[in-house]
Amino acid sequence: MTSSKQVALKPGDTVGILGGGQLGRMLALAAARLGLKCHVYAPDPDSPAFDVVQRATCAEYADIEALELFASDVDVITYEFENIPTATAMALQARRPVLPDTSVLGTTQDRLTEKDFVNSLSIGTAGYADIGSVEDLRCAAAALGLPAVLKTRRFGYDGKGQIMIRDGDDLEAVWARLSTRSAILETFVPFEREVSVIAARSATGEVVCYDVTENEHQNHILKISHAPAAIPPALAAQAREVATRIATELKYVGVLGVEMFVVPGENGPSVLVNEIAPRVHNSGHWTLDGASVSQFEQHIRAIAGWPLAQPIRHGDVTMMNLIGDEVLDYGKYLAEPGVTLHLYGKETVRPGRKMGHVTVVKPEE
Ligand SMILES: Nc1ncnc2c1ncn2[C@@H]1O[C@H](COP(=O)(O)OP(=O)(O)O)[C@@H](O)[C@H]1O
Ligand SMILES: [Mg+2]
Repeated sequence: MTSSKQVALKPGDTVGILGGGQLGRMLALAAARLGLKCHVYAPDPDSPAFDVVQRATCAEYADIEALELFASDVDVITYEFENIPTATAMALQARRPVLPDTSVLGTTQDRLTEKDFVNSLSIGTAGYADIGSVEDLRCAAAALGLPAVLKTRRFGYDGKGQIMIRDGDDLEAVWARLSTRSAILETFVPFEREVSVIAARSATGEVVCYDVTENEHQNHILKISHAPAAIPPALAAQAREVATRIATELKYVGVLGVEMFVVPGENGPSVLVNEIAPRVHNSGHWTLDGASVSQFEQHIRAIAGWPLAQPIRHGDVTMMNLIGDEVLDYGKYLAEPGVTLHLYGKETVRPGRKMGHVTVVKPEE
């Protein structure tokens, strides 16, 4: 196969997955159900995805020799993790199709370019400013107003790399604490709720969105997702439209998650985009048990060049993450009628670490 993007996998072909966390693991399981094989490439020997595939490469993302061998063993390459170095993705792209396209990483790895992109589509976000010094921070805090959230432009996740700033805070101390040279300041959004849309786009440009999901965070980490979100149908349609537009403009192939804030307004509530995740997303885990086709299968279909599914939701679905030592209660969930348990096979329990999740599907009221 060449590096052309015209991918058309056959059962028995091999998907290469960059990143070996739980998302890679669930992608590999979904691929297996469709008769595809997976080769997982990840630097951490304890990667949960290694446990469910026969072919694995444990090497650094900069290891060109390992990347070449990996590429030669697979038919298409995808990623479960948005911080794949661009150089790695480019090196692979020269040998095999990489989907979604590596250009998507450039847009979404940096909170500033991501927000500029979203605003260029006339889709709203929090107000924001590029911050490279404490002077910038002072000016932006005055211009945008406080409270505001200072975030590193790159590599943030689960609330890491962000600091809330309130009136009277010592900006110099805050800037020193973030210890970066490139950050953005975002106005704090007094949201009514947080929602997300999991969307899939095929190489032919078809976009399919799941029902809007409502998300609750604890300590900046996703704790609970409900589908469908308790929002008016017109707002749900707006949220899906926003995700569709983003997927289309990115010429995206695969599944992406768009995190949004629901904000009140004179003409009723509307959505602002918080973040784009160029991969399957934690708030879409409910689709494993709560929909006819999961986000993981949908992603594999898209990158395989297969038709997307029109997923049917099985009812009112709630997904709860098992974070840190909450996973030690797995026995309780095994015993609970109607609860589906997913454990990610991570050996070490750490506070804040996503160890598994549970799902409950109830008939729709
Ligand atoms: N500008 C903001 N206004 C209000 N809440 C915010 C803002 N930015 C982030 N948050 C809260 O922090 C959570 C994590 O922030 P996010 O930007 O999504 O970073 P990440 O998920 O990469 O850690 C959000 O889901 C939201 O609950
Ligand atoms: Mg987020």
